[in-house]
Amino acid sequence: MKLKKPKPTNLRFLFLIGAIAAVAFTSSCTPKTAVAGTNMITAEHLAQGKVIFDNTCGKCHDLPNPTDHNAQDWVGIMNAMAPQAKLNEKQHEMVYNYIVSVKK
Ligand code: HEC
Repeated sequence: MKLKKPKPTNLRFLFLIGAIAAVAFTSSCTPKTAVAGTNMITAEHLAQGKVIFDNTCGKCHDLPNPTDHNAQDWVGIMNAMAPQAKLNEKQHEMVYNYIVSVKK
């Protein structure tokens, strides 16, 4: 009797685990998809990036033109310029995403 495990319960349990994993997987992917689309958080994020860009990136030189470089080049430029502009990680990310969004 003890060897006969209640299979339906096990299956339901496994299904539950699978469902949780699926939900976790889906929601972990959602932000990445959302960046490409339009939602409030992204619009706000980009707007903040633009404000930071406008206010800090024209201090030492003319305000750069976002369309002068491709997204790949901007990674390196921002890695060099974010410390110059004393941006924190979040600000760095917002400015980068703003710059790249202008290009599209
Ligand atoms: C503290 C001064 C300072 C600030 C603030 C600053 N930069 Fe610069 N930037 C420089 C200097 C100096 C150079 C030239 C350095 C070089 O060519 O190595 C430069 C060069 C550049 C270039 C040309 C790079 C190339 O390879 O052609 C770009 C684009 C640029 N900055 C973008 C930005 C952006 C975007 C910001 C805001 C996040 C910013 N900079 C903020 C000092 C600054």
